[in-house]
Amino acid sequence: MPGSFFTGTTFLLTGGLFIMANESVHNQAPAKRSGFATALGALIATLGSAIGLGNIWKFPYLTGENGGAAFLVLYLLATFLVGLPVMISEILLGRAGRANVITTMRKLSPSPRQPWWLIGAAGALSAFLIMAFYTEVAGWVFAYVVRSLTSNILSTDPQVTLQTFNALVSDPFQSLLWQWVVLILVGGIITFGVAKGIEATTKRLIPLLFILLLIVDVRALTLPGAGAGLAFLFKPDFSKISTTAALIALGLAFFKLSIGMGAMITYGSYWKDDQNIPSTTLRVVLSDLAVSLLAGIAIFPVVFTYGFEPAAGTKLLFITLPAVFAQMPLGNVFIFLFFLLTSFAATGAMVSLVEVLVAFANEQFHLSRKAATWITVGLLALVGSTAALSNSTLAGFTPFGKTLFDLYDFVTSNVLLPVGGLFIAIFVGWVLKPEQVIAQLTNGGTLSNHGVVRVFLFVVRYISPLLVLVVLLDSLGVF
Ligand code: TRP
Repeated sequence: MPGSFFTGTTFLLTGGLFIMANESVHNQAPAKRSGFATALGALIATLGSAIGLGNIWKFPYLTGENGGAAFLVLYLLATFLVGLPVMISEILLGRAGRANVITTMRKLSPSPRQPWWLIGAAGALSAFLIMAFYTEVAGWVFAYVVRSLTSNILSTDPQVTLQTFNALVSDPFQSLLWQWVVLILVGGIITFGVAKGIEATTKRLIPLLFILLLIVDVRALTLPGAGAGLAFLFKPDFSKISTTAALIALGLAFFKLSIGMGAMITYGSYWKDDQNIPSTTLRVVLSDLAVSLLAGIAIFPVVFTYGFEPAAGTKLLFITLPAVFAQMPLGNVFIFLFFLLTSFAATGAMVSLVEVLVAFANEQFHLSRKAATWITVGLLALVGSTAALSNSTLAGFTPFGKTLFDLYDFVTSNVLLPVGGLFIAIFVGWVLKPEQVIAQLTNGGTLSNHGVVRVFLFVVRYISPLLVLVVLLDSLGVF
């Protein structure tokens, strides 16, 4: 079968499991498929995938780099006109296919000749590249958790907090060590399975994260620079809108909502049959947005109070937060809690990325979940090390003028995810039979969602693909 040959080859490139898997392909009965235990659990686990470093680290630093409120406006447009419809599309595909992303796309495509499974294959590549840099940033977060216990990382002097951060990222040994700690933890959770590992962990932690963010916000809002910080975040200066900003806002929407590479197809395959897809997805998107805004409100008042640079880039979170906590009673305790919860949020997100690869290896090659997980983790450590060392040993290696860390980040958010999302929208809007879409969105006619379905179909056919296409072509300089 040419299909499975290509899938296998692709996975060899992206995952390297082909040879080992071939040995065990046909001699085991497929296991009964697991899923999330409850509807609330499915909602929270999906939220656990969406909420992560994208909200707490990436959103504030990109907003800072791209001009504040005007960027937020672009981001909101991208979220509701592209992000939400693509996310609904992925969840409905997943629940209709009830399998890993590649098998799902094969099952649902109208003819085996049409290579829609390539969306899944490209997704596997995205998962590797995202994990490569994500585990590094998560490693910094973990390192800050431990350091907040063992030493004093708080200071209102920007020079001092910057030095603390630089000392960490420029040390190759520490960078690799923390990345491995992160990978082993993620692997451990995944081996526990979908309901016991993923669902149970996130359900406890997401509410705590909200509460802690609120506490930090109260402190930030009572700083002298709060007004300037809020104005930066909420008062748009439309001269700051540019092609680049539009592409970055779109990429951020994809990244933050975990869409464009099959994570939500995989998670959708674990959703329950009686779950209302449009309304649950909307709740995920709104909660995800709330967490980003809370993170922005925590950070920009600090930036403007202590003279940090809003455009400080990837280090923004790590150099500003120690300053806000330095001003708080029990700051040492709170910064520990804050980074701890951020590490949990990051973990929930990483679990969803790795789950895409593990579900595929597990179902396609009949590897046990354990074997699939640890082989994947080993490969991730290999690819990830090139990102982990990009601030030290490999700092001089800059293809396309970017370090490998920045390159993986740029290529995934600004190319692979939007292109993946474009094809997912086209597939759901134009290729899948509308009856199938309607059946999923109304749960076989038991929900009276017909207005919603009509709006959804219109947006996913005409608006989302067109917007993604225009932004991508524009950034290539076509117009
Ligand atoms: N959304 C997560 C965050 O904001 C990151 C993430 C998890 C992701 N799974 C993904 C990004 C799949 C893209 C695709 O941190």
